[in-house]
Amino acid sequence: MEQYWWLYKGFEIHKNEEGQNKVYFKSYPIDLESIARYNPTPVYVMNADRVKEKVATVRRAFSTYYKGKVAIHYAVKANYIPHLLQLLAEMGCGVDAASPNEARLGLRLGIPAEKIMFTGTSVSDADMKELTSMKVRINIDSFSQLQRLVHMMKTGEVPSPPLPLSIRINPNVGAGGDQYSITGGAKTAEGIPIKFGIEEKKILQAFDYAYKNGLVVDTLHFHIGSGWLAQDMAAFQRALHNVLRIYRELMDAGFSLTRLDVGGGTGIRNREEQSHFPWDKYAIVIATSLEEADIKLELLILEPGAGLVSDSGVMLTTVNTVEEKNGVEHVYVDSGMGIFPSVRLYHGWCEIVNVSHPDGPIREYAVDGNACETGDTFTYDQLRPLPEVREGDVLAFLDAGDYAYPESSTYCLRGRAHVMLRKGDQLIACTRGVESLDEIMSRFIPNYSESK
Ligand SMILES: Cc1ncc(COP(=O)(O)O)c(C=O)c1O
Repeated sequence: MEQYWWLYKGFEIHKNEEGQNKVYFKSYPIDLESIARYNPTPVYVMNADRVKEKVATVRRAFSTYYKGKVAIHYAVKANYIPHLLQLLAEMGCGVDAASPNEARLGLRLGIPAEKIMFTGTSVSDADMKELTSMKVRINIDSFSQLQRLVHMMKTGEVPSPPLPLSIRINPNVGAGGDQYSITGGAKTAEGIPIKFGIEEKKILQAFDYAYKNGLVVDTLHFHIGSGWLAQDMAAFQRALHNVLRIYRELMDAGFSLTRLDVGGGTGIRNREEQSHFPWDKYAIVIATSLEEADIKLELLILEPGAGLVSDSGVMLTTVNTVEEKNGVEHVYVDSGMGIFPSVRLYHGWCEIVNVSHPDGPIREYAVDGNACETGDTFTYDQLRPLPEVREGDVLAFLDAGDYAYPESSTYCLRGRAHVMLRKGDQLIACTRGVESLDEIMSRFIPNYSESK
């Protein structure tokens, strides 16, 4: 039996009662294939034990190498499943909200407003009214946003003075798993102008403007991008040094900063040849950089999203067809780019596991979805070696705990996948199954006629 590289993500392989090798979540008695057989597929299954392990890893790294107070604000955009957010809240995490609704969900789940910060672009006046009424902290992304907030304070549309603010600076350096995920610098390598944060040359002016208008800014925030790994640590360090130099200049100019938010973006190993994200090194880099800059924070904030939840989730999908076409063996599954969009949107890669047959002889396949596009494939132009796949087998798409579900859609009127959470020895249904036509249609006003 092969020792698969991904087993450390909370899996084990052992024989079931019939003596067949199956893939299990560690310390959970039902194997993944059986979960898929007894529940509607496609289904995302989040493994709470793995989420807990990831949070503990982050906390351990910082308590070992950094002496000050640290808060984890989970980036809800990575995955808003409320059961998952509740779990993170129970572990003491706050929220990085990318929309008023993400902040509202955090509040509904009992997360105190002071542990919620909103960071967004394209922030409208209506957004700011909602956010200030919820009393959550706003991280200012543009000068325009700041000026409009001041204007609304003066006209009484938002409380005056509002809560302390944060300002997001573009740290001049970016890194990420792909060009769409880089958020620092002027442009990506392919020339996409970067839209995030206030540039260094305008930062002093922004603080000055805020203070002259009675606003307190106690937090400086930056985020270099998403999906970066060990080889990008030097880029993170350069960004951090830039930000700390500016932090010091702002303090010397009399602005009373007390908090630093280093963003999220810490990636995960989703291919065998990659290495794990070095949380210890990350904590050391932050601790030593702060020491060298002689900056003592009241609070250091981390905003991981995918880094906490990505490899805590799998998507289980059932194979309905295996057929050779033009010399290629195609495996067709009951999900597609709408249900599992991340391969198409970002990675171009997802580790696929045949959980029905982990010890079968290796063959090469194209793994394809059920949407009507040639690009609806999970393996693109590279055939995937997999243990022999048979019709009826269940495949697990690994690292499915992050952006995949929140970004899924009802393309072709295939309902979004079912969602479950494994928590200790419980398997909790988080949705009512794969979204039905009625559920999809429920948001449309039925002023059309439907013949029965
Ligand atoms: C400001 C900010 N913080 C945190 C995150 C979380 O990133 P990740 O899920 O890659 O950790 C993002 C992602 O877009 C972000 O924009």
